[in-house]
Amino acid sequence: MMQPSPARMYDALLGGSHNFEVDRLAAQRGSRLVPDLPRLALSNRAFLRRAVRFLVEAGITQFLDIGSGIPTAGNVHEIVRECDPRGRVLYVDIDPVAVAHSRAILVGDERYGAIEADLREPAELLARVRDTGLIDSGQPVGILLIAVLHLLADADLPAAKVGALREAVAGGSYVAISHLTSALRPDDAEALHHSSREGNQVGIQFRSRAAITAMFDGWELVEPGVVELPLWRPESDRDRHEEPGRSLGLAGVAVNT
Ligand SMILES: C[S@@+](CC[C@H](N)C(=O)[O-])C[C@H]1O[C@@H](n2cnc3c(N)ncnc32)[C@H](O)[C@@H]1O
Repeated sequence: MMQPSPARMYDALLGGSHNFEVDRLAAQRGSRLVPDLPRLALSNRAFLRRAVRFLVEAGITQFLDIGSGIPTAGNVHEIVRECDPRGRVLYVDIDPVAVAHSRAILVGDERYGAIEADLREPAELLARVRDTGLIDSGQPVGILLIAVLHLLADADLPAAKVGALREAVAGGSYVAISHLTSALRPDDAEALHHSSREGNQVGIQFRSRAAITAMFDGWELVEPGVVELPLWRPESDRDRHEEPGRSLGLAGVAVNT
Protein backbone atom coordinates (compact mmCIF):
# COMPACT_ATOMS: atom_id res chain seq x y z
CA MET A 1 0.00 0.00 0.00
CA MET A 2 1.24 3.47 -0.83
CA GLN A 3 2.52 5.51 2.14
CA PRO A 4 2.09 9.26 2.48
CA SER A 5 5.33 11.13 1.72
CA PRO A 6 6.46 14.26 3.59
CA ALA A 7 7.03 16.07 0.28
CA ARG A 8 3.52 15.33 -1.06
CA MET A 9 1.79 15.95 2.30
CA TYR A 10 3.43 19.35 2.51
CA ASP A 11 2.34 20.03 -1.07
CA ALA A 12 -1.23 19.10 -0.04
CA LEU A 13 -1.07 21.47 2.94
CA LEU A 14 0.04 24.28 0.62
CA GLY A 15 -2.87 23.57 -1.73
CA GLY A 16 -0.66 22.07 -4.47
CA SER A 17 -1.71 19.40 -6.94
CA HIS A 18 1.25 16.99 -6.79
CA ASN A 19 -0.18 14.69 -4.14
CA PHE A 20 -2.31 11.57 -3.79
CA GLU A 21 -5.32 10.76 -1.64
CA VAL A 22 -3.12 9.04 0.93
CA ASP A 23 -1.13 12.31 1.33
CA ARG A 24 -4.28 14.45 1.54
CA LEU A 25 -5.75 12.16 4.19
CA ALA A 26 -2.57 12.37 6.27
CA ALA A 27 -2.53 16.17 5.91
CA GLN A 28 -6.24 16.30 6.90
CA ARG A 29 -5.56 14.13 9.94
CA GLY A 30 -2.90 16.63 11.05
CA SER A 31 -5.19 19.59 10.33
CA ARG A 32 -8.00 18.07 12.40
CA LEU A 33 -5.62 17.89 15.37
CA VAL A 34 -4.13 21.31 14.77
CA PRO A 35 -6.42 23.42 12.57
CA ASP A 36 -3.77 26.08 11.89
CA LEU A 37 -1.41 23.55 10.25
CA PRO A 38 -1.85 25.03 6.74
CA ARG A 39 -0.90 28.45 8.17
CA LEU A 40 2.28 26.90 9.56
CA ALA A 41 3.20 25.71 6.06
CA LEU A 42 2.60 29.23 4.68
CA SER A 43 4.59 30.73 7.56
CA ASN A 44 7.49 28.43 6.69
CA ARG A 45 7.37 29.38 2.99
CA ALA A 46 7.32 33.07 3.97
CA PHE A 47 10.44 32.55 6.11
CA LEU A 48 12.10 30.80 3.17
CA ARG A 49 11.40 33.81 0.93
CA ARG A 50 12.76 36.32 3.46
CA ALA A 51 15.86 34.22 4.18
CA VAL A 52 16.72 33.83 0.48
CA ARG A 53 16.31 37.56 -0.13
CA PHE A 54 18.48 38.29 2.91
CA LEU A 55 21.19 35.96 1.59
CA VAL A 56 21.15 37.51 -1.88
CA GLU A 57 21.54 40.94 -0.24
CA ALA A 58 24.44 39.51 1.79
CA GLY A 59 26.18 38.68 -1.52
CA ILE A 60 25.34 34.98 -1.90
CA THR A 61 25.07 34.01 -5.58
CA GLN A 62 24.74 30.22 -5.28
CA PHE A 63 22.25 28.18 -3.27
CA LEU A 64 22.06 24.58 -2.16
CA ASP A 65 18.44 23.87 -1.18
CA ILE A 66 18.49 20.54 0.69
CA GLY A 67 15.08 18.94 1.29
CA SER A 68 13.73 21.28 -1.37
CA GLY A 69 10.40 19.47 -1.79
CA ILE A 70 7.93 19.58 -4.66
CA PRO A 71 7.94 22.88 -6.56
CA THR A 72 5.18 25.21 -5.41
CA ALA A 73 4.45 28.93 -5.35
CA GLY A 74 7.57 30.96 -4.55
CA ASN A 75 10.32 28.50 -5.44
CA VAL A 76 13.87 29.34 -4.45
CA HIS A 77 15.12 29.79 -8.03
CA GLU A 78 12.24 32.22 -8.69
CA ILE A 79 13.06 34.28 -5.59
CA VAL A 80 16.77 34.26 -6.50
CA ARG A 81 16.03 35.17 -10.14
CA GLU A 82 13.96 38.20 -9.03
CA CYS A 83 16.90 39.54 -7.00
CA ASP A 84 19.92 38.29 -8.98
CA PRO A 85 19.42 36.98 -12.51
CA ARG A 86 22.90 35.38 -12.44
CA GLY A 87 22.22 33.42 -9.22
CA ARG A 88 22.50 29.62 -9.30
CA VAL A 89 20.34 27.13 -7.40
CA LEU A 90 20.76 23.39 -6.90
CA TYR A 91 17.76 21.58 -5.44
CA VAL A 92 18.47 18.41 -3.45
CA ASP A 93 15.85 15.99 -2.17
CA ILE A 94 15.73 12.36 -1.13
CA ASP A 95 12.35 11.91 -2.82
CA PRO A 96 12.61 11.04 -6.54
CA VAL A 97 9.14 12.49 -7.16
CA ALA A 98 10.21 15.87 -5.78
CA VAL A 99 13.40 15.77 -7.89
CA ALA A 100 11.49 14.82 -11.05
CA HIS A 101 9.00 17.68 -10.59
CA SER A 102 11.85 20.11 -9.95
CA ARG A 103 13.72 18.98 -13.08
CA ALA A 104 10.54 19.31 -15.14
CA ILE A 105 10.16 23.00 -14.33
CA LEU A 106 13.89 23.75 -14.67
CA VAL A 107 14.40 22.29 -18.15
CA GLY A 108 16.53 24.45 -20.38
CA ASP A 109 18.00 26.71 -17.72
CA GLU A 110 21.59 25.80 -16.88
CA ARG A 111 21.71 28.04 -13.79
CA TYR A 112 19.40 25.68 -11.94
CA GLY A 113 19.43 21.94 -11.28
CA ALA A 114 17.98 19.19 -9.11
CA ILE A 115 19.58 16.04 -7.75
CA GLU A 116 18.55 13.16 -5.54
CA ALA A 117 20.67 12.80 -2.38
CA ASP A 118 20.31 12.11 1.33
CA LEU A 119 21.14 14.73 3.96
CA ARG A 120 21.99 11.88 6.34
CA GLU A 121 25.00 11.11 4.09
CA PRO A 122 26.62 14.54 3.71
CA ALA A 123 29.88 13.31 2.09
CA GLU A 124 27.96 11.44 -0.61
CA LEU A 125 25.56 14.38 -1.01
CA LEU A 126 28.44 16.83 -1.47
CA ALA A 127 30.11 14.51 -4.02
CA ARG A 128 26.89 14.55 -6.06
CA VAL A 129 26.73 18.34 -5.74
CA ARG A 130 30.31 18.57 -7.10
CA ASP A 131 29.41 16.29 -10.02
CA THR A 132 26.79 18.79 -11.21
CA GLY A 133 29.44 21.50 -11.67
CA LEU A 134 26.74 24.02 -10.69
CA ILE A 135 28.13 25.06 -7.32
CA ASP A 136 31.65 26.53 -7.06
CA SER A 137 33.08 25.01 -3.87
CA GLY A 138 35.66 27.82 -3.60
CA GLN A 139 32.90 30.44 -3.24
CA PRO A 140 30.41 31.02 -0.41
CA VAL A 141 27.14 29.16 -0.77
CA GLY A 142 23.74 29.63 0.86
CA ILE A 143 22.65 26.30 2.32
CA LEU A 144 18.91 26.04 2.88
CA LEU A 145 17.70 23.43 5.34
CA ILE A 146 14.08 24.48 5.43
CA ALA A 147 11.63 22.15 7.17
CA VAL A 148 13.83 19.11 6.61
CA LEU A 149 15.91 18.52 9.76
CA HIS A 150 12.79 17.59 11.74
CA LEU A 151 12.42 14.62 9.37
CA LEU A 152 15.72 13.24 10.66
CA ALA A 153 15.59 11.08 13.79
CA ASP A 154 17.84 11.86 16.76
CA ALA A 155 19.80 8.71 15.83
CA ASP A 156 20.64 10.38 12.49
CA LEU A 157 22.51 13.10 14.45
CA PRO A 158 20.98 16.06 12.58
CA ALA A 159 23.23 18.67 14.25
CA ALA A 160 26.32 16.72 13.17
CA LYS A 161 25.04 16.70 9.56
CA VAL A 162 24.77 20.50 9.63
CA GLY A 163 28.31 20.57 11.08
CA ALA A 164 29.62 18.35 8.28
CA LEU A 165 28.18 20.75 5.70
CA ARG A 166 29.80 23.72 7.49
CA GLU A 167 33.21 22.07 7.37
CA ALA A 168 32.87 21.47 3.63
CA VAL A 169 31.82 24.94 2.49
CA ALA A 170 33.85 28.11 1.91
CA GLY A 171 34.13 30.83 4.58
CA GLY A 172 31.34 33.37 4.22
CA SER A 173 28.79 30.65 3.46
CA TYR A 174 25.42 30.84 5.19
CA VAL A 175 22.92 28.33 6.48
CA ALA A 176 19.19 28.99 6.91
CA ILE A 177 17.24 26.52 9.03
CA SER A 178 13.58 26.18 9.90
CA HIS A 179 12.49 23.40 12.21
CA LEU A 180 9.28 22.29 13.93
CA THR A 181 9.38 22.84 17.67
CA SER A 182 7.72 21.67 20.84
CA ALA A 183 8.80 24.92 22.57
CA LEU A 184 5.55 26.90 22.43
CA ARG A 185 2.73 24.39 22.00
CA PRO A 186 3.95 21.12 23.52
CA ASP A 187 0.51 19.43 23.42
CA ASP A 188 -0.06 20.20 19.74
CA ALA A 189 3.53 19.15 18.95
CA GLU A 190 3.01 15.85 20.75
CA ALA A 191 -0.31 15.19 18.95
CA LEU A 192 1.24 15.93 15.54
CA HIS A 193 4.31 13.84 16.28
CA HIS A 194 2.10 10.82 17.06
CA SER A 195 -0.13 11.43 14.07
CA SER A 196 2.96 11.60 11.82
CA ARG A 197 3.95 8.09 12.87
CA GLU A 198 0.64 6.54 11.82
CA GLY A 199 0.78 4.48 8.64
CA ASN A 200 4.54 4.00 8.91
CA GLN A 201 5.30 7.54 7.95
CA VAL A 202 8.58 9.09 8.89
CA GLY A 203 7.95 10.49 12.36
CA ILE A 204 8.27 14.27 12.59
CA GLN A 205 10.57 15.36 15.42
CA PHE A 206 9.34 18.50 17.20
CA ARG A 207 12.55 19.60 18.95
CA SER A 208 13.25 21.97 21.82
CA ARG A 209 14.63 25.47 21.31
CA ALA A 210 17.98 24.29 22.75
CA ALA A 211 18.21 21.34 20.34
CA ILE A 212 17.41 23.55 17.35
CA THR A 213 19.86 26.25 18.48
CA ALA A 214 22.57 23.56 18.83
CA MET A 215 22.24 22.89 15.10
CA PHE A 216 23.95 26.25 14.56
CA ASP A 217 27.02 25.29 16.63
CA GLY A 218 30.18 26.56 14.93
CA TRP A 219 28.19 29.07 12.83
CA GLU A 220 27.59 32.69 13.83
CA LEU A 221 23.89 33.49 14.05
CA VAL A 222 22.74 36.71 12.44
CA GLU A 223 20.12 38.88 14.17
CA PRO A 224 17.55 38.12 15.53
CA GLY A 225 18.98 34.63 16.25
CA VAL A 226 16.74 31.59 16.57
CA VAL A 227 13.15 32.86 16.77
CA GLU A 228 9.60 31.86 15.89
CA LEU A 229 9.02 31.69 12.14
CA PRO A 230 6.94 34.90 11.83
CA LEU A 231 9.46 36.86 13.92
CA TRP A 232 12.50 36.29 11.69
CA ARG A 233 12.91 39.68 9.98
CA PRO A 234 9.23 40.11 9.03
CA GLU A 235 8.77 42.41 6.06
CA SER A 236 5.03 43.11 6.23
CA ASP A 237 1.75 41.93 7.72
CA ARG A 238 1.62 39.51 4.78
CA ASP A 239 4.19 37.46 6.72
CA ARG A 240 1.89 37.08 9.74
CA HIS A 241 0.52 33.66 8.89
CA GLU A 242 0.91 32.58 12.52
CA GLU A 243 0.39 34.58 15.70
CA PRO A 244 3.69 35.28 17.48
CA GLY A 245 3.78 33.22 20.67
CA ARG A 246 1.98 30.34 18.92
CA SER A 247 4.29 29.27 16.10
CA LEU A 248 5.10 25.61 15.72
CA GLY A 249 8.36 26.47 13.97
CA LEU A 250 11.65 28.12 14.89
CA ALA A 251 14.07 29.57 12.38
CA GLY A 252 17.47 31.16 12.11
CA VAL A 253 20.20 32.15 9.66
CA ALA A 254 23.92 31.94 10.39
CA VAL A 255 27.23 32.57 8.67
CA ASN A 256 30.41 30.49 8.53
CA THR A 257 32.99 33.09 9.56
C1 LIG B 1 8.32 19.55 4.34
S1 LIG B 1 9.26 19.42 2.87
C2 LIG B 1 10.04 21.00 2.83
C3 LIG B 1 10.15 21.59 1.44
C4 LIG B 1 10.82 22.97 1.39
N1 LIG B 1 12.16 22.94 1.92
C5 LIG B 1 10.03 23.99 2.17
O1 LIG B 1 10.31 24.21 3.34
O2 LIG B 1 9.11 24.57 1.61
C6 LIG B 1 10.62 18.39 3.39
C7 LIG B 1 11.40 17.75 2.27
O3 LIG B 1 12.57 17.13 2.79
C8 LIG B 1 12.81 15.93 2.06
N2 LIG B 1 13.67 15.05 2.86
C9 LIG B 1 13.32 14.29 3.92
N3 LIG B 1 14.38 13.61 4.40
C10 LIG B 1 15.45 13.96 3.62
C11 LIG B 1 16.82 13.58 3.59
N4 LIG B 1 17.30 12.70 4.48
N5 LIG B 1 17.63 14.13 2.66
C12 LIG B 1 17.12 15.00 1.74
N6 LIG B 1 15.83 15.39 1.71
C13 LIG B 1 14.99 14.88 2.64
C14 LIG B 1 11.42 15.39 1.81
O4 LIG B 1 11.41 14.48 0.72
C15 LIG B 1 10.64 16.66 1.53
O5 LIG B 1 10.60 16.95 0.16
